[in-house]
Amino acid sequence: MTDDATRRWLDATWTFVRAALPPAPARALEVGCGPAGGFVPALRAAGYDAVGVDPAAPAGPGFHQVEFEHWTPPAPADVVVACTSLHHVDDLDHMVDRIAAATRPGGTLVVVEWAHERFDERTARWCFDRLPPGEGWLHHHRQRWRDSGVPWTAYLDDWVAAEGLHRADAIVAALGRQFRARSLVAAPYFFADLGITEAAERAAGIALTGLRWVGSAEQAVDRRDLAVQGARDALAPVDLDDRRGAGGAGLDGRDGRADHAHRLVPGLALDGGEHGIGAVGQAGRADDPDGLGDELADGLAGAQRGHAERHQD
Ligand SMILES: C[S@@+](CC[C@H](N)C(=O)[O-])C[C@H]1O[C@@H](n2cnc3c(N)ncnc32)[C@H](O)[C@@H]1O
Repeated sequence: MTDDATRRWLDATWTFVRAALPPAPARALEVGCGPAGGFVPALRAAGYDAVGVDPAAPAGPGFHQVEFEHWTPPAPADVVVACTSLHHVDDLDHMVDRIAAATRPGGTLVVVEWAHERFDERTARWCFDRLPPGEGWLHHHRQRWRDSGVPWTAYLDDWVAAEGLHRADAIVAALGRQFRARSLVAAPYFFADLGITEAAERAAGIALTGLRWVGSAEQAVDRRDLAVQGARDALAPVDLDDRRGAGGAGLDGRDGRADHAHRLVPGLALDGGEHGIGAVGQAGRADDPDGLGDELADGLAGAQRGHAERHQD
C-alpha cells in the first residue's frame, strides 16, 4: 500500500475498530500493526494503553519488532486487534492460541480480514481497471497476472499457495475455537488502494472480500449448544451495544433474540452500511447472494463441532 492508501485504510477501518472497543482506559494490543503503527496511535489518543507487535513495527515506545508468536505479553490485554495480519501467519491455530492467551477472560478480539477466496475475476478486473497511478500490491498483481497469461483463478491459486495465505473461512473457524463470535460482517476491501470510499466500493456490486469480526474471550461458553443450533444461527448479527449488558447474547440462541430487530439474516450479516460495526443489523440480504455466509458458517460449524468433541469427556 502507498502511504496515502494506508492512511485511508486505517482511517476507515478505525471507525469499525473503535466501535468494538471496551471503554477506555484499558490495555490494548495490536497484532501485526504494520510499519505505520496501525491503530496504536489512535488507540493511545483515545485513552488506551496500547502496544503494537509486528516485525515491521515502527521504532518507538510500545512497538515491538518481533513476530507475535515470539513475544511475551507483560499482562493480558483487555482488547486485542488484528487487522489483515492473520491471513499471513504461518500456523493459524497456534497464532489464535497465542492471542487467546494474551487476552484477559471476557476481553475483546477485533479482527479485520480478507476473504481472498471471494476475489473473483470480475472483482479483480473491476479493481485493476480503476487503479490510480502508483505502485502497490494491486498494481503488482495486475502486472503479474497480465504477464502470466493464465486464467484468473489459476493465477490467484498460485499467488495464495506461494504466499501461504489463509482463507477467511479458515480464520473464522480458528477464531471460533478460542473466542465466542459476537458479530461477523462482510465489508469492502479494496477502496483504500483505489482511492475511493467504502460506499463507492460497496455500490459497485463487486464481491465484498473484506471481513470484520468481533469476539469475546469467554472460555466458559459451552459451544455444544452452538453446534446443535447450527453455525448459521450462531453467526446471526448482534447489536454490539449488548456487550455492556448481555455480553454477546444472541449467538447461543437461548435468549429469545431470534426475534430481535437486529437479527436479519440467518447466518451472516452482510454489512449494509458504511460504518462497520455501527452498520451491523442495519441491512442484510436474506438470500445471501454472495454465499459468504455459507462458507464462513461452515467454517464455524466445523470449529464448533471440534470444540464440542474436545469437551465431551
Ligand atoms: C497487510 S499488513 C497490515 C498492516 C496493518 N495492520 C494495516 O492494516 O495497515 C500485515 C502485517 O502483518 C504482519 N505480520 C505477519 N505475520 C505476523 C506475525 N506472525 N506477527 C506479527 N505481525 C505479523 C506483517 O509484518 C505486516 O506488517
